[in-house]
Amino acid sequence: MLEQRRVLIAIGGGIAAYKVCEVISTLFKTGCQVRVILTSKSQEFITSLTVSTLSRHPAYTDEIFWQASHSRPLHIELGEWAQVILLAPLTANTLAKLACGMADNLLTNTVLASNCPILLAPAMNTEMWKQISVQRNWRQLQNDPRYHSTGPGLGRLACDTNGRGRMSEPAAIVSAVNSLLYTTGKRDLQDKRILITAGGTQEYLDPVRYIGNPSTGRMGIALAIAAHHRGAKVCLIHAGVSNELLNSLPDVDHYFVTSAQDMSEEVLKQFENTDWLCMAAAVADVKPASYHQSKISKSELPENLPLVPVPDILKLVASRKKSQQTIIGFAAQSGHILTPAKEKLVLKQLDVIVANPIDLSGVGFASEHNQGIFLDKLGREKEIPFCSKIDLANCLFDFVQEFIELSI
Ligand code: CTP
Repeated sequence: MLEQRRVLIAIGGGIAAYKVCEVISTLFKTGCQVRVILTSKSQEFITSLTVSTLSRHPAYTDEIFWQASHSRPLHIELGEWAQVILLAPLTANTLAKLACGMADNLLTNTVLASNCPILLAPAMNTEMWKQISVQRNWRQLQNDPRYHSTGPGLGRLACDTNGRGRMSEPAAIVSAVNSLLYTTGKRDLQDKRILITAGGTQEYLDPVRYIGNPSTGRMGIALAIAAHHRGAKVCLIHAGVSNELLNSLPDVDHYFVTSAQDMSEEVLKQFENTDWLCMAAAVADVKPASYHQSKISKSELPENLPLVPVPDILKLVASRKKSQQTIIGFAAQSGHILTPAKEKLVLKQLDVIVANPIDLSGVGFASEHNQGIFLDKLGREKEIPFCSKIDLANCLFDFVQEFIELSI
């Protein structure tokens, strides 16, 4: 899905510049054409040789920009060439220039001479990030439909402090770039409130033992990133998702839960103010019949564990659904995926269901990729071949929009 896609990466002068090498390398390996602009300060951190080697193309610098040897101005050529521009790491200085519409180097001139979506990946010290002036500039760009963002996340910074200011991890940046390549930056879900569940619930027997499942939450996070890029107001409810993955979340409302009961309560609370619900979480079916406040010793563990059912969240939601609300379920299946997914579509009164194979190599739990079949209650079926989870998320949103149009 990424063939012939053109990404221009402008690297700013910050220590996170070294992490952008991985972004260039991954995008190139997955079939994108990549061109790189290095600001003069970024070359203190990373060399032109490094990025040229990784992108298989000479890097562009301010030195080249000011030479009079081009047939057409370089910033115009690059601006027209790019389908997505990534600014990473975005420094406080470049942020301020963008907020003022300044153009004093190749990076800022190219931004002004282009009209493709721009992805911002800021990185700076926490105190710098918190400054009123920096926050004002940031908000200003957030209000401009051309700009999309990833991070900054929380974590340990190069200045030996912990806080917000860490550049998004390369995998999260690549996901966000892919999402923008797919959507071309359109914000077609702007008026939608989308509730997403992610991860796997944990049903505790005692403080150290639980019944769980291998879901990492990657599919739900991909849905949240894609929905956010397309302008939706996103609310994510997650269980058992790692902090590293949560760090790749854009600025969306999100709630931690543990058990199916917790997830059910939170979903029901949020559902009323939701247009679409995407239940990507792997929710338990049963839990231990009783919970022990203190750890049960090995010798006292029962030979057979009594289990009781947990709420089926989708069934509970179905009874409260209003006609303008759309509910999307996920059926993770082994073996034949279609028949059980069709049954769940009817049984759980869903509008759309994603039938997901979990027994093929390279897809499913914990993987960056997925494949499946979308089904809706109008009887439509659409097969989605092996692709990134972010591409699957975007294809799903297109399918849901078509479903809504056809249902009117
Ligand atoms: N689901 C739910 N509440 C549960 C269990 C599942 O809302 N207690 C949702 C899942 O989030 C998913 C859909 O139901 O969107 C299908 O989940 P799946 O695990 O495939 O089906 P189950 O109903 O659990 O049935 P089975 O385990 O027998 O396949």
